[in-house]
Amino acid sequence: MSKEIVVSGIRSTGHLHLGNYFGAIQNYVKMQDEYNCYFFVADYHALTTHPDPKELKTNVFRVLSENIASGLDPEKVALYAQSDVPEIPELYLMLNMIAYKGELEKVPTFKDKVRLQPENVNAGLLTYPVLMAADILIHKGAKVPVGKDQEQHLEMARNFAQRFNTRYGDYFPEPQVFRFNNDTVKIMSLDGTGKMSKSENINATIYLSDDDYTIRKKIAKAKTDAGPVEGQPMPDFIQNLFTLLSITGSPETAQPYINAYNGGSIRYGDMKKQLAEDVVSFVRPIRERSIELQKDEAALRKILKDGGEKARASASAVISGARKLIGISYY
Ligand code: ADP
Ligand code: TRP
Repeated sequence: MSKEIVVSGIRSTGHLHLGNYFGAIQNYVKMQDEYNCYFFVADYHALTTHPDPKELKTNVFRVLSENIASGLDPEKVALYAQSDVPEIPELYLMLNMIAYKGELEKVPTFKDKVRLQPENVNAGLLTYPVLMAADILIHKGAKVPVGKDQEQHLEMARNFAQRFNTRYGDYFPEPQVFRFNNDTVKIMSLDGTGKMSKSENINATIYLSDDDYTIRKKIAKAKTDAGPVEGQPMPDFIQNLFTLLSITGSPETAQPYINAYNGGSIRYGDMKKQLAEDVVSFVRPIRERSIELQKDEAALRKILKDGGEKARASASAVISGARKLIGISYY
């Protein structure tokens, strides 16, 4: 039986962080042996926020290195840049004809961007979910390992696939979010103001490129409270620290601190020291390996080139099928 197809991407908008690792990359690594995987750097998606052209390439190469340093093997998966696969924008154009302005305007991530960058509400931002659907459907992707924040986008990809199939004939699968053990991981920023993300709250985000000193400093400043209040649930920013403790260390390391919290005797200072050491030990090997990889640009270029070829082989077959169904086949 042929392997199921897996597709996922990460935007090249900055340094990867623990949220990217636990929400996405960790799942990529676990899937690489059993599935037919296409993982890419979403550089076109990054353009929606107008990155500095001088920084784009560095960002792409770093995201690539950080993925490999986290355990992805370019021999086992197709690891490529979105912009190296011209069939993606072609399918994006086709899907744009069956995507409606009204539904796109309702997407929460679009509304967030309108709020955050009212001066740059471009059409690429509006059609972001259409490009994402094209990324997935171009390989007939069935499973998509992404964090919880991407579920709405996946639902739209299923809608577009279904609409295409109804109009032109059964062709695309309806891609599903994939997570091991159904874990919905969402890592919050350390100041409790939202999810960890590449470009916001940099002092409350732990990057895979942070050095030991920076990690310790950021964790020491993490938001805590005066301890548990009877009858009140644990605040999400405290829960987040326990989550980090159990996933960067182990559930056994976290348990005594959780017991102390429940017993009303938690000393956050002690807990943060433990957390800082666990995060330092977790990030260090990834950071060091990634720095090494970034020194050899020729090797990274070769990885991108080989990955692009693998991705184009799959994409060109799928796009010619789509063209035929639509009626674009003249020769
Ligand atoms: P960012 O939001 O940091 O710019 P991306 O949008 O490129 O990151 O997301 C890449 C992947 O990482 C997606 O699968 C996304 O769901 C996941 N991800 C991003 N931030 C988090 C987070 N804080 N917790 C869990 N997963 C996350
Ligand atoms: N939109 C995703 C994010 O912000 C990144 C992405 C682009 C993606 N294309 C994709 C993820 C295709 C999965 C599949 O996280």
